[in-house]
Amino acid sequence: YAKGPQLYEGKAKKVFATTDPDLVIIHYKDDATAFNGEKKGQIEDKGVMNNRITSILFSHLAQAGIPTHFIEQLNDRDMVCKKVTIIPLEVIIRNVAAGSMSKRLGVAEGTELKTTVFEISYKNDALGDPLINDYHAVAIGLASFAELEEIYHLAGRINESLKVFFLERGIRLIDFKLEFGRTSQGELVLADEISPDTCRFWDAATNEKLDKDRFRRDLGNVKEAYIEILSRISR
Ligand code: C5P
Repeated sequence: YAKGPQLYEGKAKKVFATTDPDLVIIHYKDDATAFNGEKKGQIEDKGVMNNRITSILFSHLAQAGIPTHFIEQLNDRDMVCKKVTIIPLEVIIRNVAAGSMSKRLGVAEGTELKTTVFEISYKNDALGDPLINDYHAVAIGLASFAELEEIYHLAGRINESLKVFFLERGIRLIDFKLEFGRTSQGELVLADEISPDTCRFWDAATNEKLDKDRFRRDLGNVKEAYIEILSRISR
């Protein structure tokens, strides 16, 4: 796999073309942002850890029959993936109240939910990724009702698989964000990443936060939390 021209640069990753028009190389950076880019920083070796963590989790999901864009990890910071057109939605799955849901609804962080909550946001930096519903998504042409149904179905299966995987490793999966895309063949696949940047992970014994909330809330030991997650899923 030879790295071709850069196609895209996001807050935490860069995407490069390869000689195969259906494949891209995704490069993971150490840059960390929060609050829609208002807070900026670096977490040493975050790119290395998130590349490895995402590779492990996407391999696990593929084994569970989930279609993903992931092909293989190339090196410390790069992975090869199928090229997809990203559906501009952030799909958020919540098992326990935290973050923006706690704030918006006045429910204490850590409150168990009577049902899994699925949310969608319109992926648009200028608008600050507003929370929307299915009707908004269809009305402004982001997806069809049939696509949304397929997305929620996959998101539910991913949640069930990951909840078990993490609990077996002493980690509570509180909530997380997914992105989906379509390949040139028209297949809907899980894309982007799954890492401490995009999930809330709490230690199952102590409820200690082991994710990007340590950066967002200046809790310290940010890098150590990422190392801990990688170490627990590597055994
Ligand atoms: O901030 P909020 O509580 O809505 O975040 C829910 C989950 O989605 C968290 O795990 C957070 O890390 C993730 N998220 C993300 N990217 C965003 C917004 C949220 O990965 N732009």
